[in-house]
Amino acid sequence: MQVPLLDLKSQYNSIKPEIDEAISRTVETQNLILSQEVSDFEKEIAEYSGVPYTAGVASGTDALILALKAIGIGSGDKVITTPFTFFATGEAISMLGGIPVFVDVDPETFNIDPKKIEEVLEKEQGKGAKAIIPVHLYGQCADMDSIVAIADKYDLKIVEDCAQAIGATYKGRQAGSFGSAGCLSFFPSKNLGGFGDGGMVVSTDLAVIDKIKSLRVHGSRRKYIHDELGWNSRLDSLQAAVLRVKLKKLNEWLDGRRRNAEKYDQALSSLGIVTPKVDEGNVHTYHQYTILVDSRDDLMEYLDSKGIAARVYYPVPLHLQPCYQFLGYSEGSLPVSEELSKKVLSLPIYPELTDEKTNYIIENIANFFKNREN
Ligand SMILES: Cc1ncc(COP(=O)(O)O)c(C=O)c1O
Repeated sequence: MQVPLLDLKSQYNSIKPEIDEAISRTVETQNLILSQEVSDFEKEIAEYSGVPYTAGVASGTDALILALKAIGIGSGDKVITTPFTFFATGEAISMLGGIPVFVDVDPETFNIDPKKIEEVLEKEQGKGAKAIIPVHLYGQCADMDSIVAIADKYDLKIVEDCAQAIGATYKGRQAGSFGSAGCLSFFPSKNLGGFGDGGMVVSTDLAVIDKIKSLRVHGSRRKYIHDELGWNSRLDSLQAAVLRVKLKKLNEWLDGRRRNAEKYDQALSSLGIVTPKVDEGNVHTYHQYTILVDSRDDLMEYLDSKGIAARVYYPVPLHLQPCYQFLGYSEGSLPVSEELSKKVLSLPIYPELTDEKTNYIIENIANFFKNREN
């Protein structure tokens, strides 16, 4: 049996008539960039996320860059974030000339550890930091009560990296609604994925979104008049049209992911495997279902040999990336992230995964451990 990590073809097949209609409707208009389709989608995401203002941009990475720029991050500004994330989180800080200050994560939730944020802010390394980017990794919100309290105490702005967490809630509030801005990615593999790149910034602050709406079109609010330098970072209408169809299904798909997670939780914890911890107050969206295994690479190879695609997110934490050598971190600097990068393994969790396939995965994980005992 073959089990891919994600099955976008079967997702497409389940909504093909609506998607095809949305695409042909958009093609007929030939309004292909920042059209009515995009502003309708912006309104729908605002409603879904419980925030009043939104701006569609070209990717999740651009959402981070433009949000940081909009809150005033620039050359030499320190920004606190986690090293245990996709590279774009750190890259966005650096592309504006900012300095990422990496803070280690909680070993159970994999999200930035608030206690360690405070420690770093009290040291030379973090003194004077301007902002913090909590990443809601794998679809679970970071400890936002603590992060908001620290941000208030040290006068830090918060930009939430919600690339993996659309629909996740923390104490009843949606990811992206806690800070100055929340950044979404619509990369095809995301829980709400387009047919190409796309992203959005959500915010409770009109001034932030107004600024981003200028930055995304070359720093312009009036045609051919440029108040500032900006980017070309616009969400296109075809992506918006596709995403509008998919948004209607999102909650149902997230429920499907949670159902699969429950099955894994039960079966895998009885095998003594460390399954994802859902922190109090959180509703997880399981963008990834990630277990911790000492013999991770062997298990991944074994599953591959059985046709099961399990993958590692992420094998090298940001502070150990070659391009960040100049920051002066080394092996041992952020031990929790380093250990996690050697042990994490994400299993297929997509909502279309059948019981037959889930059982096949569980069975093969059990066989792997049984074979090792013998
Ligand atoms: C945590 C995180 N941040 C940022 C991004 C960047 O998003 P995009 O690929 O849409 O640029 C991603 C996704 O790839 C991500 O997982």
